[in-house]
Amino acid sequence: MENKVKPNGTATFTVAGKTAELPVYSGTHGPDVVDIASLNKQTGHFTLDPGFTSTASCESQITFIDGGKGTLLHRGYPIDQLAEQSDFLEVCYLLLNGELPSQTELADYKHTITHHTMIHTQFDRFFEGFRRDAHPMAIMTGAVGALSAFYHDSLDINDPQHRIISANRLIAKMPTIAARAHKYSIGQPFISPRNDLGYAANFLRMCFAVPAEDYEVQDVMARAMDRIFILHADHEQNASTSTVRLAGSSGANPFACIAAGIACLWGPSHGGANEAALTMLQEIGSVERIPEYIAKAKDKDDPFRLMGFGHRVYKNYDPRAKVMQKTCHEVLDAVGASNDPLLPIAIELEKIALEDEYFVKRNLYPNIDFYSGITLKAMGFPTEMFTVLFALARTVGWVAQWQEMIEDPTQRIGRPRQIYTGAANRDYVPVSKR
Ligand code: SDX
Repeated sequence: MENKVKPNGTATFTVAGKTAELPVYSGTHGPDVVDIASLNKQTGHFTLDPGFTSTASCESQITFIDGGKGTLLHRGYPIDQLAEQSDFLEVCYLLLNGELPSQTELADYKHTITHHTMIHTQFDRFFEGFRRDAHPMAIMTGAVGALSAFYHDSLDINDPQHRIISANRLIAKMPTIAARAHKYSIGQPFISPRNDLGYAANFLRMCFAVPAEDYEVQDVMARAMDRIFILHADHEQNASTSTVRLAGSSGANPFACIAAGIACLWGPSHGGANEAALTMLQEIGSVERIPEYIAKAKDKDDPFRLMGFGHRVYKNYDPRAKVMQKTCHEVLDAVGASNDPLLPIAIELEKIALEDEYFVKRNLYPNIDFYSGITLKAMGFPTEMFTVLFALARTVGWVAQWQEMIEDPTQRIGRPRQIYTGAANRDYVPVSKR
């Protein structure tokens, strides 16, 4: 990756009688940054920013979010245009290579991914070690990490060819592994991928076909699944992507780094929110009980939060949530579930929250996880699979960001510092004297 920050003057920082001159850089879009790398050397101070609310961890050219306007760009292209006009593998190519592919490039890429969807037969025995009632995200975390044990031929992160083959294997095999995690948890036989199906259709068939009868993938479902994958593909330096970058900065192999990202995504404040949002709607149970839950969400003494609402960056409507809401209606209509009792609860909850001063003042809007749960449930997925689908789609974002980090000439191991407030220096006291 060629560094493209543009110098834009300096910032002067004075503390405890010492002054630091710090370079300021501009990017293509978004706030300028103050490069504080030399701050400690010039002033002897660290900065402190738990949660990284004011801290850029890296330069990136993959995705840009304007939280105020509620816009999301992948390599400059708006998410709503990609969701409507592109398909997931084309978006994968764009995220990984920086430009939209030509027809030949796209055909070659799809052929490559299609021919890496199978997994080693010994890998299937790996699932047998899990209890049948294991959460599919527990299986995914273990299984994806285990890929390191099967693909020794592509673990040299400094070899560009190894990075490409690992990226292709991860993007191609995630649907196969995710479908196996689902089949294993419901006690059905694994279904092998088929090369005559598109990426999303292949995944749906591996999830829902049984040996006793085949499964005809409806176009509307395949299109909805593909669009949902696009919406979840990448999202700047979110918690799981930052985890992948930090793991990768030590030189860990890509399979281990992606497994670390899956583990982080599982949390209910992050990718686990789609599962938690559906559970919340089911717990609310009726439109009449919404005020009770709005009150709980506002009560500082109550840990309850409206799952699927709020975002660290978006202080406007999450643009993905708008496309997800449209997809939700398409899927519910297609499966004849437009009378799903959860939908009116979600619509009314959104309406009330968007008018309530507590949410308005804090810029809390629905995020991508608010409508995805209803949609995925209507498609036939159990709630525990929702975050697995998020991880499946986000794999391309994690891999693209990992690749960019490896190729960044300024890359070095990530090693934050701290402010220490523990016990002061003291001598050991033998137990006989305590
Ligand atoms: C994803 O980073 C990404 O890009 C993530 C993601 C991606 O694609 O990778 O977009 C995917 O993770 C989406 C977010 C999914 N999580 C949820 O829906 C869980 C519910 N949301 C919250 O937990 C929360 O909004 C976060 C975690 C998403 C954001 O937390 P922040 O930025 O740390 O905000 P905060 O906790 O400081 O909240 C600010 C205020 C607080 O009130 P005050 O202390 O100011 O009085 O807003 C309140 C919070 O209590 N608040 C909520 C709320 N979210 C924030 N109150 C009720 N319900 C909520 N959902």
